Amino acid sequence: MKKPLMYLLATTSLLTLGVLNTFGQAQSGYIPTYYVDVQPILEKNCVSCHVAGGIAPFALDNPKEAVARANRIAEVTREEYMPPFPPSRESQPFLNERRLGIASKKVLEDWAKAKAPLGKPPRK
Ligand code: HEC
Repeated sequence: MKKPLMYLLATTSLLTLGVLNTFGQAQSGYIPTYYVDVQPILEKNCVSCHVAGGIAPFALDNPKEAVARANRIAEVTREEYMPPFPPSRESQPFLNERRLGIASKKVLEDWAKAKAPLGKPPRK
C-alpha cells in the first residue's frame, strides 16, 4: 500500500475512534441496557443460531438467558470466539463477514460490567 494512503487510513480510524468516544454510546459513563443497546446487537449477530430450536445451546432472544450469560457473552465476543467466523483477521476481506465491530463489543462489555441491566422494554 502507498504510504500517503496508509497515513490517511490511520488518521481516519483514529478520528472515528475519537468521535465514538466523544459522542457515541461507547462513551465511558453511559450504561447500556438490554432493551436499548444489547438486544439489537444480539438480534443481528447471534439469534440466527441462538434461538429456541436453533443449532446453538441457548436462546439469546430471551432476555433472561442473555442476562444470565452477560459475562460469558462479553468474553466470547471480545476473544472473537463468537460469532463464529473462522477466517483470520489477516485473511482477505469477505462480503458479509460475521464479525462484531469495536463499538458493539464495548456495549456488551460495559453491559456485563454494569451487571446486565434490562432497562425499559419498548412500548408496543
Ligand atoms: C453460526 C451460529 C452461531 C452464531 C451466529 C453465534 N453463535 Fe454462539 N454458539 C454457537 C454454537 C454452535 C455454540 C456451542 C458450541 C461452542 O461453544 O462452540 C455457541 C456457544 C456460545 C456460547 C457459549 C460458549 C462457552 O464456551 O461458554 C456463548 C456465550 C455464545 N455462543 C454467544 C454468542 C454471541 C454473543 C453471539 C453473537 C455475537 C453468538 N454466540 C453467535 C453458534 C453460534
